[in-house]
Amino acid sequence: MFAPMSHQPPHAPTSDPAHASASHADAHHGEPPAAAPARTPTWKRAIVVGASSGIGAALVRELAAAGTDVVAIARRAEQLGELARSCAGARGRVHVLAHDVARFDDAAPAFERALAELGGLDLIVYAAGAMREVGANEFDTAKDLDMLAVNVGGCVAWLNPAANFLRTQRSGTLVGISSIAGERGRKGNPVYGATKAAMNHYLEALRNRLADWNVHVCTIKPGFVETPMLAQARAQGRTIKGAISAEECARSILAAARARKNEVFVPFKWRLVGFVIRNIPSFLFKGMNI
Ligand SMILES: NC(=O)c1ccc[n+]([C@@H]2O[C@H](COP(=O)([O-])OP(=O)(O)OC[C@H]3O[C@@H](n4cnc5c(N)ncnc54)[C@H](OP(=O)(O)O)[C@@H]3O)[C@@H](O)[C@H]2O)c1
Repeated sequence: MFAPMSHQPPHAPTSDPAHASASHADAHHGEPPAAAPARTPTWKRAIVVGASSGIGAALVRELAAAGTDVVAIARRAEQLGELARSCAGARGRVHVLAHDVARFDDAAPAFERALAELGGLDLIVYAAGAMREVGANEFDTAKDLDMLAVNVGGCVAWLNPAANFLRTQRSGTLVGISSIAGERGRKGNPVYGATKAAMNHYLEALRNRLADWNVHVCTIKPGFVETPMLAQARAQGRTIKGAISAEECARSILAAARARKNEVFVPFKWRLVGFVIRNIPSFLFKGMNI
């Protein structure tokens, strides 16, 4: 269900940087400019999947404040409505769409509705995610399949139609929120980490596929971020320190995507952590309780 939350006039169609530089070249007798300027994307229209709380909600607030019209998607319509109301004074409009990403067949029609609501698309962020705490000796297939459905199945069901749309318009940005947890197979939560590793692989392949079409794909690997997901992990006994705010994380994500970065750890220190974790020999990693 869509709920437009403000009544400002729709934006004019976004200027595509590729087309902009082509017409500039035409104006100069077909010659491209001597030094092509760095292409900083202009996002007039965005979709955020997993927008009702945490990082996704912070992304919607940042984008709307910057003048981007956003369709915010998640299951909890009430939280989405609150988010849209909190953005009522923003330059960009926020529309909400209640949707369960685990219902894969609904994703393509929901994508089309979001597209129609926005009148086009420049940016899509897949921020929906589930991390179920699992005990040391727990092998719960239902929990694991739930994480696979949200983190991987929903991601593919949403980003495939988005990738194809952006490919045909030859511009746009896709962002996937993965995790530091995808760097290595930790004993603590085998399937959550596996879903993030799968996302990394899929996003990299999309990036390579879409590179020739002027569409950029950015993989974000956050460390700890203060969100309901982290609060839930703490409530179940995990000690977590040094988390950044969802707002700081959202700003870093948008800066990385604007700069057309491929893979970014947020905050930067987790890049070093990732490097160390990837290089711990297996015989040592087996004995580590992480
Ligand atoms: N917080 C961290 O420390 C951290 C670290 C690394 C990576 N991440 C990743 O960052 C992303 C955002 O997580 P967060 O920390 O912001 O957690 P969060 O506040 O729990 O947000 C998760 C979002 O995913 C949505 N979602 C979950 N299941 C869904 C479903 N079946 N259909 C539609 N939407 C669904 C939730 O909306 P509804 O429940 O309303 O559907 C919510 O908007 C996740 O991919 C997470 O793995 C987080």
